[in-house]
Amino acid sequence: MCGIVGYIGGKSATPILINGLRRLEYRGYDSAGIATISKGKTLICKKQGKVAELDKACADSGSTIGIGHTRWATHGEPSELNAHPHQVGDITIVHNGIIENYADLKVELEKIGYEFKTKTDTEVLAALIDNEYKTATDISHAVRTALNKVAGTFGLALLSQKDEDLIVVARRGSPLILGIGDDEYFIASDTSAVVGYVEKVIYLEDDQLAVVARDGYDVVDLNNKAQSVQLHDLDQDQVKAEKEGFEHFLIKEIHEQPQVIADTMRGRLLKDGEVRLGGLNLDDDELRDLKQIIIIGCGTAYYAGMLGKYLLERLTGIPVSVEIGSEFRYRDAALNPENTVALFLSQSGETADTLASLAEIKRRGIHSLGLVNVVGSTLAREVDGGIYLHAGPEISVASTKAYSAMLTAVMLFGLKVARLKGLARSEALEFAESMESLPNEIKQTLGVSDEAKRVASQVKDIEHTFYLGRSDLYPVALEGSLKLMEVSYIHAQGYPTGEMKHGPIALIDEGFLSVVLLPEDELLYAKSISNIEEIKARKGKVLSVSSRPQPEQSDYHLIVPKVSQWIEPLVINVALQLFAYHMAVAKGNDVDQPRNLAKSVTVE
Ligand code: AGP
Repeated sequence: MCGIVGYIGGKSATPILINGLRRLEYRGYDSAGIATISKGKTLICKKQGKVAELDKACADSGSTIGIGHTRWATHGEPSELNAHPHQVGDITIVHNGIIENYADLKVELEKIGYEFKTKTDTEVLAALIDNEYKTATDISHAVRTALNKVAGTFGLALLSQKDEDLIVVARRGSPLILGIGDDEYFIASDTSAVVGYVEKVIYLEDDQLAVVARDGYDVVDLNNKAQSVQLHDLDQDQVKAEKEGFEHFLIKEIHEQPQVIADTMRGRLLKDGEVRLGGLNLDDDELRDLKQIIIIGCGTAYYAGMLGKYLLERLTGIPVSVEIGSEFRYRDAALNPENTVALFLSQSGETADTLASLAEIKRRGIHSLGLVNVVGSTLAREVDGGIYLHAGPEISVASTKAYSAMLTAVMLFGLKVARLKGLARSEALEFAESMESLPNEIKQTLGVSDEAKRVASQVKDIEHTFYLGRSDLYPVALEGSLKLMEVSYIHAQGYPTGEMKHGPIALIDEGFLSVVLLPEDELLYAKSISNIEEIKARKGKVLSVSSRPQPEQSDYHLIVPKVSQWIEPLVINVALQLFAYHMAVAKGNDVDQPRNLAKSVTVE
């Protein structure tokens, strides 16, 4: 989703801004732009499309102050005109988030003579600040007054032609960091943009504003109350991710999963089937007394949560409910705060709907745990405790390794709670053995890549697919369908296999592909084969995925290693990731940055 960079110091700003924007490309965007100030004049350079195009288009202005942006369209189509920065009068702004009352503000501003070139909410925000500056005592005052009039979310950086040596930044609901260098400052919506430039960062909190000058910075809240801030060490290990010989980040990250799972378990899964989780901030009695678990996430994280429910309920016997962030935040869920814990699953730790759900969970007085990948992200900082995923930077917009790491963390949590609730040592050891075997089993599963590629070459022109699974392969079917949709742009719908006959089967004809996940479990396997028969009877095509040999009824087959029921869903999911990847490649799509998608969804 949208990205922000900014620089003020002694060096030429343009190359630093462009490089920062390149580092934010993985978030997904449709246009980009930069603004610098030189001799009291603002220079703006924008382009629809990739940062590489922007780089070609923007000459180095020589200015040592500037801001930049990658835009993911919300208000107004992707275009050079709508790209940020937006300038109104003396104010030039880049903005992440959504100004919800922009239409009302626009009407008021038009009444006093402002004219707008774009349909963006950001241009309205720039005009609002410009107008406030006419009567405000200084730029900070103008921005604070304006921001106190807006509803919605913002992470913003702005330049003022009247204040050539200042950048003003502010946030509400959209991440923003200030990187502290030697006589220079960097601004970014994401630490990846400043790694290598600075060692210390400040994470701005909601409703904080910073005025960054050449010789220092001041942080206040929107009522101008001085704020004390904490300097954090920046993890320099999140070095610029490279493809390391792989054609795309997506396939590289799929292949990283054995290592990622091992890293998530390292030092946590102990030899005797016990689990050490240092950051939960819950003691053993509190964990033993748990009576309800809520899991909240969006997209792939939500589907990881769904599978987590199946695993946790079987392992711990505790009822688990799974909530989609964008739904939970607005529905009046009936929850008992006693003996309840809420697990927040998120790769980025910045997903707006997940963060809003966290606020609701906190309001209800429920202990929150974050299963988060990005260290220092908003979610990671705001939860009561948690488990870092240690999956490393996930660059591909389509999430793969974070999903596996989330489930590994959920299983660690489940095993710990189950042991405290009396799971027999022998059973705990058996479960732990399954977990330990996971990296190797996934390594074996990667061997199915060639066959997935061959099948993809044969079915790439299909327009509609079902992904079908029973029991804990049902959430895997949902995740598999999401992956295919995201990267291949083929319509894909996940369904519980047994639900087909209740309606969806009406769609089946010779042009329809059903990806049917077949479990090792005898009973469910037999039931699923009957369902394949029903599809074949209607001339539908079937791709089966299983540890068993290809059933005679299916047209294509991906075979995965035979593993325990606990880890079978994760293994089968890897085969589906590979299939989605090869479909995207076969269709010639932009695999790592699929159209319309953003890596980190920081707006509603
Ligand atoms: C995954 O492939 C997606 N791009 C998307 O569904 C993602 O999982 C979702 O937006 C949640 O992101 P998060 O894990 O960073 O919170």
